[in-house]
Amino acid sequence: MRIRELYYSNTNTYLIQGEEGCLLFDTGWAGTFPAFCHTMGDMNIPVQDIDYILISHYHPDHMGIAQEIADLGPVILVADIQRNHIHNSDSVFTKEGKMQFCPIRDSNVRFFPIREGRSKLKEIGIDGQVIHTPGHSDDSISLLLDDGSLFVGDLNPLYEVELHRGTLIEDSWNKLMALAPKTVYYGHAKSVSVSDPAMGRSEEKKDLYAIVAQIMKLTDKGYDISKIRKKTLCDESFIQDVMRMYLTHQNVGVQGILDRIEIKNR
Ligand SMILES: [Fe+2]
Repeated sequence: MRIRELYYSNTNTYLIQGEEGCLLFDTGWAGTFPAFCHTMGDMNIPVQDIDYILISHYHPDHMGIAQEIADLGPVILVADIQRNHIHNSDSVFTKEGKMQFCPIRDSNVRFFPIREGRSKLKEIGIDGQVIHTPGHSDDSISLLLDDGSLFVGDLNPLYEVELHRGTLIEDSWNKLMALAPKTVYYGHAKSVSVSDPAMGRSEEKKDLYAIVAQIMKLTDKGYDISKIRKKTLCDESFIQDVMRMYLTHQNVGVQGILDRIEIKNR
């Protein structure tokens, strides 16, 4: 099995090569189709070689070019729990007007019960499972391969989980960590290794401290949320929280901000 990250949009998308076929996990924003084809061409992989497209959740930056890719042959696999969400982003693109966008044609889609994800993946020689991991959105799924590779889309990163106690985000991470993933591949952040789950969490906690300090520094420099997001790859609402705490509490430090965010999320 081989995992390749495709670099053509602001979303991290992955090509997973199984024994008998190929799966594309997530796609980019509408308008990125030419760049996608270019990237595939650079790797000498015909788009037609992709058997299935699996989308972590139906937000515009993950499903924007799914139909254009599917028009070349790949089949969009949709878990049953995503059934009512595949057109969630159509209105976003319609409002944008100018941007080229092809809504998903339901006739191209193959629905599968999420508990039967393993046998679906097996068809193309990939050993793994599909897990419902709500929190970022109701239709969020994660893909966990038996080698420990875990693809979570936009599920809030592990380093933030302390801030989401008692929420669906924590429930989803608990579910995933119980399955002992080794490497987590995010939709926007860098992939991380979590070979020892307990270690992974404490390392991530240290990261959180550094990230809050970085957001404070960038706020001082006058960066806005979107620029800070690009620099830190953090969740927008998390950046907003940190900025608000920082700007409204005089002389507050990193730990003070972390404590306040934690209290707010309890
Ligand atoms: Fe999202």
